[in-house]
Amino acid sequence: MATTTRRLEGKVALITGAASGIGECAAKLFAEHGAKIVIADIQDQLGQAVCEAIGSSNSIYIHCDVTNEEDVRKAVDIAIATYGKLDIMFCNAGIIDPNKDHIIDNEKSDFERVLSVNVTGVFLSMKHAARVMVPTRAGSIISTASVVSNIGGLCPHAYTCSKHAVAGLTKNLAVELGQFGIRVNCLSPYAIDTPQATGFTGLKGEDFKNKVNSVANLKGVTLTTDDVAKAAVFLASDEAKYISGHNLFIDGGFSIVNPSFNMFQYPENPL
Ligand SMILES: NC(=O)c1ccc[n+]([C@@H]2O[C@H](COP(=O)([O-])OP(=O)(O)OC[C@H]3O[C@@H](n4cnc5c(N)ncnc54)[C@H](O)[C@@H]3O)[C@@H](O)[C@H]2O)c1
Repeated sequence: MATTTRRLEGKVALITGAASGIGECAAKLFAEHGAKIVIADIQDQLGQAVCEAIGSSNSIYIHCDVTNEEDVRKAVDIAIATYGKLDIMFCNAGIIDPNKDHIIDNEKSDFERVLSVNVTGVFLSMKHAARVMVPTRAGSIISTASVVSNIGGLCPHAYTCSKHAVAGLTKNLAVELGQFGIRVNCLSPYAIDTPQATGFTGLKGEDFKNKVNSVANLKGVTLTTDDVAKAAVFLASDEAKYISGHNLFIDGGFSIVNPSFNMFQYPENPL
């Protein structure tokens, strides 16, 4: 990649949940754009493999359970010790609760586990990013929310609740850290073929793709991890220097329409 197109040259990024899916893709793309990457995850073998794919001169893997404050503190401190600074924190690690239709079948333990990773984990990642970014008066904090950060009825209760919370944390922290020049944003993707989504839906490959595309608003394209990674590169880069407190939907317009009454139907193009 030409130097002029390396949009994260010289930056240091810590990405949680970077052993798989969106995080893995972002780690590789951030590195292509010139960033040094700290891959933080609990899947050690996969995390090491991502590190090897990127190259050990540009990345390190750290075992980090985002629900454990000491792990998060250590991951941030290792980023500073290894690369001298932290410019980008991508709070991406997340899980989903079991696919149960009725609230009375939902276990409190599942609810708490999802909130622990998806909300407490994001809170801790933001907190320790802020700890090292505030003194330098610079930085970009990005989190992975979801279309269910704004709409209901698509995912289980704990997951939906957790993603609303990520959007709320994003707004609150963008206000607190604006005075230090630190930007805080989140990304809200529609469904993507990753282990989390295929595990949850029980659909794989073409079946998954056909299902999500059939109910998508934007036709003729399929959302991939790369699309989310590219949006993360933008928010992490200086091109987004005045964007903060934003929840960027990567959903082809899925969340802005209620398809039960759609006046724009073309008879030759059934929805
Ligand atoms: N795939 C989708 O359809 C979709 C849509 C919207 C949002 N998201 C969100 O995107 C993010 C990434 O998910 P994905 O789809 O790439 O799934 P994924 O399962 O491929 O990746 C999630 C990663 O998070 C890691 N992780 C889980 N618990 C952790 C913990 N306690 N500490 C550290 N790491 C942990 C996993 O080991 C895994 O590597 C999640 O926040 C998810 O909720 C996914």
